[in-house]
Amino acid sequence: MQHERIAILDYGSQYTRLITRRLRELGAFGLVYASGATAQEIGGEDLRGVILSGGPNSVLEPGAPGIDPAIFELGVPILGLCYGQQLMARDFGGQLHRASKREYGKAEIQVTDPDSVLFHGLEKDLVVWMSHGDHVEVAPDGFKVAAKTTGVPVAAMEDRAKRRFGIQFHPEVTHTLHGSTILLNFLHVCGMKLDWNAGHFIEEKVADIRRQVGDGRVVLGLSGGVDSSVAALLLHKAIAKQLTCVFVDTGVMRKDEMLHVQEAFGPFDINIRWIDAADEFLDALAGVTDPEQKRKIIGKTFIDVFEREAKDVKADFLAQGTLYPDVIESSGIGGAVLVKSHHNVGGLPAIMKLQLVEPLRELFKDEVRRVGLALGLPDDMVWRHPFPGPGLAVRIPGCITKERVKILQEADAIFIEELKGSGWYKLSSQAFAVLLPVLTVGIMGDERTYESMCALRAVTSEDFMTADWARLPHELLEKVAQRIVNEVRGINRIVFDITSKPPATIEYE
Ligand code: XMP
Repeated sequence: MQHERIAILDYGSQYTRLITRRLRELGAFGLVYASGATAQEIGGEDLRGVILSGGPNSVLEPGAPGIDPAIFELGVPILGLCYGQQLMARDFGGQLHRASKREYGKAEIQVTDPDSVLFHGLEKDLVVWMSHGDHVEVAPDGFKVAAKTTGVPVAAMEDRAKRRFGIQFHPEVTHTLHGSTILLNFLHVCGMKLDWNAGHFIEEKVADIRRQVGDGRVVLGLSGGVDSSVAALLLHKAIAKQLTCVFVDTGVMRKDEMLHVQEAFGPFDINIRWIDAADEFLDALAGVTDPEQKRKIIGKTFIDVFEREAKDVKADFLAQGTLYPDVIESSGIGGAVLVKSHHNVGGLPAIMKLQLVEPLRELFKDEVRRVGLALGLPDDMVWRHPFPGPGLAVRIPGCITKERVKILQEADAIFIEELKGSGWYKLSSQAFAVLLPVLTVGIMGDERTYESMCALRAVTSEDFMTADWARLPHELLEKVAQRIVNEVRGINRIVFDITSKPPATIEYE
């Protein structure tokens, strides 16, 4: 028995996937279909409602994507958002106002119908995220105007008898303050049970993976980060021993990283190849100081090592923990695998003749964490800060040697330990130590020292595109600085980085 579902017809809005995300938050499962999908394609016993997304076109243009009229006969409630609303208005004989250009922005709407279903339980005046383009000027017969703005006479319309609804703005965007309530009100009309959760997601993906993979073999690069770890657990649940994970120790990872990941995965009985390639990486990096060069070398070495293993496994499929934000950033994933330069270890796109398995493609980061928890991934793995593929190589400006990596690993481990102990690890989005290529004079006991300087970086960030420095308490910084200088040989001075991004980046190279 399939789980009950809302069908979302995608008219090309950049927010379409956000609709599915909001529905999941509300406990409802939504499936996105191309705008041309027919009633037959989207229909079924499990269908409870249809949402027509926004889109960049004008419904008044010739050739604008339309809707199969039979969808209106499916007998389920329909909600049109922006373009979707205009489409309904057009097809049911309303009047539209054509705009010359389209802008997005905040707007205030006024709910004009106290009996409105969509705005049930909400105030009369609401702040929404509106697309200022075409709008409905006169609602079609049977529809009652439910809300307006100063410039838009039909900001929302409802045909309650036929359960058809349209709104000019985007309830899926967080700038629309009560957007989730509006969607929830629609879901109530649909009679959705609202019991969708991470467990259902897992069930559904397990079935999808089995269908896609058959009895083929799958290889996955396990980095110890949240995304690849969750992907590994999900695939393991689906295909058990057909999955082989490859963990590559690049020699520029956090202190005891391999051990840590081994411990976390110990209870799961997953096929994992633990490859210690530290020497191969460090040899290739010897004498290199240019940041881009470092990234390229690490990327290439990683691919060499990984391809070797994938061949040995005789893999048919390559699994990746790609998330929805990665999908937006990288286009061009087609038949051949294009491993995104920034996302992957160093920067070389690898063309491997393997089919992709990407079970997390629809999810956002916080959802992946929830799925990870439901799969039994330990808490500290679920809440780990991100770590760049090129690893400590981009946190050691200048030459990378085994000794310098060791010094940085020790300093970083102390910083992280203190952050965790003080509760500041969870309050920061990413934190780490950097080993600077600067020697300064110090005094230890009666001895003059001439050693490296270490920078501490801790940032808060929503999406890592921008970031602010974390306001760590002075006492914490003092303790970390004292401990590092006392416990790590080779560092005699600590600085704390207070630059935001922009203008700085989070990493140093
Ligand atoms: P920047 O330094 O660009 O970093 O502000 C933003 C976020 O991306 C991570 N990062 C990387 N992740 N491969 C990765 O997998 C890379 O080459 C890479 N470079 C930066 C960085 O740690 C931060 O979270």
